[in-house]
Amino acid sequence: MTERRATNVTWHHGEVSPARRRALLGHRAACLWLTGLSGSGKSTLARRVEARAVERGVHAYVLDGDNVRHGLNADLGFAAEDRRENIRRVGHVARLLADSGALVLAAFISPYRRDRAEVAALFDEGTPFLEVHVATPIEVCEARDVKGLYARARAGEIPDFTGVSAPYEPPEDPPIRVDTSARDLDECADAILAALVARGVLPAPSESGAP
Ligand code: ADX
Repeated sequence: MTERRATNVTWHHGEVSPARRRALLGHRAACLWLTGLSGSGKSTLARRVEARAVERGVHAYVLDGDNVRHGLNADLGFAAEDRRENIRRVGHVARLLADSGALVLAAFISPYRRDRAEVAALFDEGTPFLEVHVATPIEVCEARDVKGLYARARAGEIPDFTGVSAPYEPPEDPPIRVDTSARDLDECADAILAALVARGVLPAPSESGAP
């Protein structure tokens, strides 16, 4: 029978060291993990941070739930075990991207603490993993209902809908917490960029010569 698990495989290191990538890119690699309810503003915020970081010359890239579920994770649904596998795969993709020197911005509901902790464990001190709780209240997410999913979930048409018929476990003490209904998008992005500068991931804007 064919073995379905990967065995007899070895991890290969390249010729380019993480330090060399860092020196050439002018910033450290990191994974910023945005977690929050559907409609909380995770993707929009991740994309604003990405745009602002790229304008500063940073190699930043967004991984987002709706997009990843169109391709890589198109085989997964929203039961707890499927979400776990979704987050596990995305965590490994994030790690590979970070290995390339990138600032990875991952925007996934990722409602279970255990799943987020498993992703965090893939990163070490050299590549910071920072959880960002996009803590927009459910009333606001539901009032926005950009995709009409809350209305359908309330009508019983979508099973396992986060916040309605499936749980959301908020981070207990995240390094960064933002509420997109309390501050505008650029203020939320400022808070995240400032946290990255404070942790030495990005240089201060003046050092990079960007506005
Ligand atoms: S996660 O829970 O596995 O992290 P992910 O972020 O990839 O979720 O995908 C969430 C997106 O899928 C939502 O923004 C929404 O558009 C869509 N979606 C479809 N069904 C559900 C559901 N049952 N619960 C939550 N989101 C859903």
